[in-house]
Order: sequence, then C-alpha cells, then structure tokens
Amino acid sequence: MEDRQFKFRESDFKLVRKLVYGRTGIDLNENKQEMVYSRLSRRIRALGMRSFTQYLAFLESANGDQEAGDFVNSMTTNLTRFFRESHHFDYLRNDVLKHRVEQARQKQRDKKIRIWSAGCSSGMEPYTIAMTVAATLPARENWDVQILATDIDTNMLDTGKSGKYRSRDCEGIPAPLMKRFVINDGDHIQMVDSLKQMIRFKYLNFMDEWPVKSKFDVIFCRNVMIYFDKKTQERLVGKFVELLQPHGVLFVGHAEAIVANFSNLRNVGRSSFKVDRRLQECG
Ligand SMILES: C[S@@+](CC[C@H](N)C(=O)[O-])C[C@H]1O[C@@H](n2cnc3c(N)ncnc32)[C@H](O)[C@@H]1O
Repeated sequence: MEDRQFKFRESDFKLVRKLVYGRTGIDLNENKQEMVYSRLSRRIRALGMRSFTQYLAFLESANGDQEAGDFVNSMTTNLTRFFRESHHFDYLRNDVLKHRVEQARQKQRDKKIRIWSAGCSSGMEPYTIAMTVAATLPARENWDVQILATDIDTNMLDTGKSGKYRSRDCEGIPAPLMKRFVINDGDHIQMVDSLKQMIRFKYLNFMDEWPVKSKFDVIFCRNVMIYFDKKTQERLVGKFVELLQPHGVLFVGHAEAIVANFSNLRNVGRSSFKVDRRLQECG
C-alpha cells in the first residue's frame, strides 16, 4: 500500500507468521497481513525504530526477550464479552451446578467446584462464570469454588485482575446480576470483591507445559482454538479431556467443531461436551 509509513514486504509477513506460530501456535493466514502491519507498526513507533527489518531483527536478537511479551500481546485477538454464547451458562446453572447441589445434599459428592476458563482474555468469561456460580449455589452451604482463568496476553490478565471495565461492556449482564455483583460509576463498572476472590488469573501459554494439577468439573475453551491448526486443536482437546473429572464438561466456541471427533466426548448441547469414559472404552 502506498500510504504506509513502513515498508512491509512479503518476507516480513512470512517471518512474523513463523515467529507467531512458534511462540503461540496461532496460525495467521494470508488475509491477516493488514492486521499484522497495523499492530506491529505501533510497536515499531513505540520503540522509535525505522523499519520492520530492524524490529524483526531486534526480536530475534539476544535482547529480543524484552520485546517478546509485547509482540505476543500485539498478535492476539481478544474479542470477548459477558455472557457470550449464553446457552453455556444456562447449561452450567441448570445441569452442572443444580445437579451438584442435589448430589451434595444426598451426600454423594463433596462441595468442591473447580472450573477453568482457558484463554480467558480480559476476564469477562470467568466473571460470567463466577456470577452464574454465585447466583446458583445456596449461599449458606459453604461451597469451595475456584475458577482458574488463564491467558497468554499479560495485558488482558491485568484487566482481569482489576475487574474493571468500561460501562458499555456490561450490556450482556442480566439486571438482577448487575445489581448484586457489579458497581457502576457511570464511566466504569467494577466487579465486587466476592467474585474477584473466586478467580485466580494466571499466565499460561497452551504451547508450553501446563502447570495444572487438579482436575476440573468444567473447562471453557471458547473462541481460542479457531486460531490454531487442526493438529494443535486435537492435542489441546486431548489434554482438556485428561484434566476433566469423569462426567466433566467442556465448552468450546460455536466454530470449534474439532471436539466432535473425540470418541470419549458426548455432545450434550450446542458446542457443549461431556466426558464419558465408557465411550472411550468402547472406542
Ligand atoms: C478471542 S479470545 C476468547 C476469549 C473468551 N474465551 C471468549 O470466548 O470470549 C482468545 C484468547 O485466546 C488467547 N490465546 C491465544 N493464543 C494462546 C495461547 N497459545 N495460549 C493461551 N492463550 C492464548 C488470546 O490471548 C485471547 O485472549
């Protein structure tokens, strides 16, 4: 393009693509050239550099680690919202949580719930989970709830930890939950401390080792795997299944059909799957 401030060659794009894939698993296709140009131009300007060549050489140099985080943060797509694909939260409330309350009353299960929001972006997904859990579990029953919220983008994790968003972001939150869990000062909304205490925000790159020990009742990995190739998607789903309790539930994004190939996952609703080890035994 003529009016570009920096020269951006096909070879620059190819190198960015290789670096992004190697560091994040994100598989950038050809039509992402404009996006890459505009996001990395900002980094080049911020560093006072003159060209993509200079920037990419710096990134690959011995000192490139300083920039690695900002490079990755610039390349992620963080689109999210409260109660996105709300049918998942209906299932969480009406099937998973209500069933667990019943089991606990009959002394068949403990009162411990572990949920993972994997690829949580700025935190709207884990806060939606927290609101759903807090509004469903009986308040006086002393439930032990932990929501792990992970992402590769450190800026997003900082927003999540703050629990502070623009007021216009609260659109999807139902009025009764707004009243109970959100403080609105006109310009901003702030999640109440009782929700923040349920969530642990942590950096986790799906391409690295996962320092996750406990098993989960529910894993949300939504609108993340679409950025990965098929091989990576299959590897991730396999690892999620390993980390789910028997009958644990995996929610994925509506475009992430890969999960349907797993013989030990039973489709229980729109982009919602339940672990069924008997299916695994049968192949
Ligand atoms: C589009 S957002 C989805 C947010 C949320 N799950 C939702 O559905 O609203 C995708 C998120 O995946 C994260 N992501 C991309 N690659 C990742 C990786 N290799 N490891 C961990 N998170 C990654 C991005 O930083 C981004 O915040």
